Amino acid sequence: MQPVSNAPDWKPDSWKTRSARQQASYDDPAALQRALTTLESLPPLVTSWEVLSLKRMLAEVQAGKRFLLQGGDCAESFSDCNPSIISNRLKVLLQMSLVLIHGLHMPVVRVGRFAGQFAKPRSSDTETRDGVTLPSYRGDLVNRQEFTAEARRPDPQRLLQGHSNSAITMNFVRALIEGGFADLHHPEYWKLDWLEHSDKYREYQELVKSISDSVHFSEILAGRKLSNLSRVDFFSSHEALHLPYEQALTRQVPRQWGWFNLSTHFPWIGLRTNDVEGAHVEFLRGIRNPVGVKVGAETSSADLVRLAQRLNPDREAGKLLFIHRLGADKVESELPRMIQAMKKSGQEVIWSCDPMHGNTESTSNGFKTRRFENIRNELELSFQVHKSLGSHLGGVHLELTGENVTECLGGARELVEEDLHRAYKSQVDPRLNYEQSLEMAMAIVGQFQRL
Ligand code: PEP
Ligand code: CO
Repeated sequence: MQPVSNAPDWKPDSWKTRSARQQASYDDPAALQRALTTLESLPPLVTSWEVLSLKRMLAEVQAGKRFLLQGGDCAESFSDCNPSIISNRLKVLLQMSLVLIHGLHMPVVRVGRFAGQFAKPRSSDTETRDGVTLPSYRGDLVNRQEFTAEARRPDPQRLLQGHSNSAITMNFVRALIEGGFADLHHPEYWKLDWLEHSDKYREYQELVKSISDSVHFSEILAGRKLSNLSRVDFFSSHEALHLPYEQALTRQVPRQWGWFNLSTHFPWIGLRTNDVEGAHVEFLRGIRNPVGVKVGAETSSADLVRLAQRLNPDREAGKLLFIHRLGADKVESELPRMIQAMKKSGQEVIWSCDPMHGNTESTSNGFKTRRFENIRNELELSFQVHKSLGSHLGGVHLELTGENVTECLGGARELVEEDLHRAYKSQVDPRLNYEQSLEMAMAIVGQFQRL
């Protein structure tokens, strides 16, 4: 008989016995409970077999046979739940994955930061403007960004809206993929019109042509259309921050043992909630999904080992990712001790690099931004440090969008501070725009080939 849970002392609500950081404070507990009860009765957003199939692919990432591309918005917003934003984001990720498959000679597993990336950690619980103090904006799952008491009041109904918007997003993504949008025979479907004049796009088109030729050639050899090229897998992920929401979508399913968080395929926890003794780690330890933990310079080596013991006690392949976000200036000093500590403990994890969150800065004209070259350098150094220590970087975690925004500096178009005001749309962190994302995928290929 299979165990009921891989952690017998764990329950979907055992996190409540621990201290939970970054939680919204609702003024009407009965209304919160009603919303959670409704959520518990609604269908999940993903299925257990999809979750297990992602875990199998991540086991290949761990073995160095597949590369992980994870990317999307810092924070999704309810108003961005529209077809063009969703399909443009999908197009960028598909194009990037094509560049990676071609250059790395490896299959890629694609994971979007979407269909549920609605809750954000904040550095302070409150925000003060002109002597007025209100609760901080915690993402569309909790409240609204506008600086009024009404907008900032955490509203439990938003949990239901978050679930619906996630379902609408997943439904559209699934329909596009099943309908042939992700067909490798037709990469022209992924074209984003406004980029035609860019050099990077020309480079990309040459690559597409060479892939189309190989597909065509293989099909002539096989004497038939290769059906496994007509669709690709796409998985969802978000930061598992709002624990009551995550708990409400954590389910047992027929013919499977244990519990699955079916709000997403791949939940991760952020740097601010990765305390080994805290509620978020407690929640993550009992679910069968693959899980991620953001780790930074402030994460001690001893804590890394304890996190791995707590989150993957059975040492299951494909189960645990450490997503390091150190900043280009700290990778060389911090990453080696992290890798060595894990080696010494004998615990294996998948390493992924988030080159965004350690490279955030403010410009003199008041924008939060990131420099393309710092992002690229952090990635390049991460590849090198892993390689030099006999480890390998299994994937990347990026904040990006398919829109023509101006939020990060640099890249082929050499965006400068004066450009930022033109199309700065992010409500939270600055994202790579479409062109910068494609260029980053090409940079990754170069870095990988130089190893
Ligand atoms: C994020 O991924 O948007 C985030 C807040 O990251 P971190 O927890 O690494 O700061
Ligand atoms: Co962010």
